[in-house]
Amino acid sequence: MNKITEIRKAVFPVAGLGTRFLPATKAQPKEMLPIVDKPLIQYAVEEAYAAGIRHMIFVTGRNKRAIEDHFDTAYELETELEASHKHELLALVRSLSPEDMDCSYVRQPRSLGLGHAVLCAQPLVGCEPFAVLLADDLMCGPENGDPVLTQMVEVFKRVQTSLLAVQEVPADHVKRYGIVAGEPAGERLIKVNQMVEKPSPEAAPSRMGVAGRYILTPGVFAHIRNNSRGAGGEIQLTDGIAQLMTTEGVHAYQYHGKRYDCGSKQGFLEATVDFALKHPEVGPEFQEYLKAHSIRR
Ligand code: G1P
Repeated sequence: MNKITEIRKAVFPVAGLGTRFLPATKAQPKEMLPIVDKPLIQYAVEEAYAAGIRHMIFVTGRNKRAIEDHFDTAYELETELEASHKHELLALVRSLSPEDMDCSYVRQPRSLGLGHAVLCAQPLVGCEPFAVLLADDLMCGPENGDPVLTQMVEVFKRVQTSLLAVQEVPADHVKRYGIVAGEPAGERLIKVNQMVEKPSPEAAPSRMGVAGRYILTPGVFAHIRNNSRGAGGEIQLTDGIAQLMTTEGVHAYQYHGKRYDCGSKQGFLEATVDFALKHPEVGPEFQEYLKAHSIRR
């Protein structure tokens, strides 16, 4: 059988409770929080679609129904919009689920960590390489350049190993990330030989932090399955990938672009301001508001 180098499936682990955004996330998924007018999960799905992926696999949990509804047909809403001739809005609503896109949902019955969430998707992923996107990390490609996952899909075609998006992070932030270290392997590429989840600054092998974009080979599943609980008592994806390195190569890729940590209030606000300034409808007026606001202060 020919080796599959095309990435056709993306996994979105969306079962987390979102406690950092309470009370906003008491009755709605954190992935549905909007940056301006689009929920976080939609940015991630659009990034996967732009990278050529057509099968979206959501690993959900209780209280996450809004995500399924968001990518489903909204029959009543569409009928209303049609009757009132709001064609632009109708097209917008329909564009959320293009005809060539399939969505599957699988439940993660217990909060056992990111590795466990990815493992829940195994029956739907099967035996081919796949992408993992953490919707909390809102990734913005460079202006006039490719989105981050598109860049990764291109790199994957060359390296044909698991590939992790990385960025350099400040020393006092290493404890928030999976940290990788290794040997330079070409432009923006590192052949990874060490990977640790959320190390202390003293124990960190480097300052290269993993952002929430991965391309993984199916070999990772067996390693996640064999792992005991790691940092925070959870089944960590990082530990599964670290084990995978004993049997397969793994690369890290320093992407072009910017990451907003929308799992934190600060990152969420920064994304809101930057995306609002770029938004065709509200951008110019919002810019005036910010100018006037900074003069007043
Ligand atoms: C997860 C991963 C971590 C990665 C981070 C990126 O952590 O476990 O390795 O660096 O996402 O956002 P979390 O932010 O879910 O704690």
